[in-house]
Amino acid sequence: MRWIDTLETAAAERLPEAVHRYFRQGSAGGISVGEATAAWSTYRFRPHVLNDVSTVGLGTTVLGEPVDLPILVAPSTMHRMADPDGELAMARGVGAAKSVIGLSSNAGTTFGELGKTGVPWWLQIYVVRNREITERMLDAAVAAGARAVVLTADTPVVGRKEDDGETVWDLVRPGQLLANLPAGDWTDDDLAKADDLNPDVIGRLAERTGLPVVVKGVLRGDDAKRCADAGAAGIIVSNHGGRQLDGSIPTALALPEVAEAVAGSGIEVYVDGGIRRGEHILAALALGARAVFVGRPALWALTVGSSAGVTRLLTDLGTELDHALRLVGIPSLSSLTPDLVTGRFA
Ligand SMILES: Cc1cc2nc3c(=O)[nH]c(=O)nc-3n(C[C@H](O)[C@H](O)[C@H](O)COP(=O)(O)O)c2cc1C
Repeated sequence: MRWIDTLETAAAERLPEAVHRYFRQGSAGGISVGEATAAWSTYRFRPHVLNDVSTVGLGTTVLGEPVDLPILVAPSTMHRMADPDGELAMARGVGAAKSVIGLSSNAGTTFGELGKTGVPWWLQIYVVRNREITERMLDAAVAAGARAVVLTADTPVVGRKEDDGETVWDLVRPGQLLANLPAGDWTDDDLAKADDLNPDVIGRLAERTGLPVVVKGVLRGDDAKRCADAGAAGIIVSNHGGRQLDGSIPTALALPEVAEAVAGSGIEVYVDGGIRRGEHILAALALGARAVFVGRPALWALTVGSSAGVTRLLTDLGTELDHALRLVGIPSLSSLTPDLVTGRFA
């Protein structure tokens, strides 16, 4: 059995039930979260033979940042429920694999503390109704060395989770969440997600921070084009791990349309959601992703093995990708092309 496949069960033994449920759950009826991995497994490969694959390279750049492997950690909350050092432990694990971490704007670690690790990090931001809060968070993140801003665009309202009994919100303690909320007497309305955004927000974020802006939550080619036209440096094809609109299309199926819509624009395309195997990563990269993000597996790995667990997760997936690249007959990521992939029996 793969170590990766043991992680969720091992994590469930260590976590309070409400935390395990929070990490694993999707919104509403759980359709999108349930379909994500299965959708990646519908792809079939058209491998080359008689290609020299004696040397395979996994290194690439993401927004100009060199990484040892095209597997990044998606922004998520509640790391301090998984490990006492929370995002710091996650970041150290990511750093040892020479990758990049997305830091949730709801994190339980201050930007300053994270910055001191020296691990490259991208700030995930929700624009909230009171723009002063967002602006002050952005300024603090820039001062602490964030390398990019990831605008989560799929959350005009928060997806509905169908919980019974104790929830993670009953367990979370001060300091485990929202460590970067600027001081102030904020109301719930101030903190509610902005539901009046349009693509101009991309330019405003770029101007305020001087950083590349990546839009997370894109599932359609036309929206990807709007983001590119508005100056985004990247997009993440994502349905938020099935935690926003339930029944949203699997990212495995959205990726080809999105990649095609922005081909030649220079924008970098990333993808997340249900990616659990080297073959899934191979399909994603061949279909136009520059790199993939993993969400829940990193939370399980953090719970089970702290920093070393996160490093092992990323390197194990890298080893699987290396193996799959050799089998598909392609020695370098830059040589991957969509014709390597087809639908199940197309
Ligand atoms: C527990 C949890 C918390 C999350 N918190 C955030 C968040 O604060 N901001 C965000 O943009 N995405 C958040 N996400 C979504 C992830 O960034 C990512 O899109 C998703 O987990 C990828 O799917 P995967 O878990 O199947 O790999 C969260 C996901 C999980 C599981």
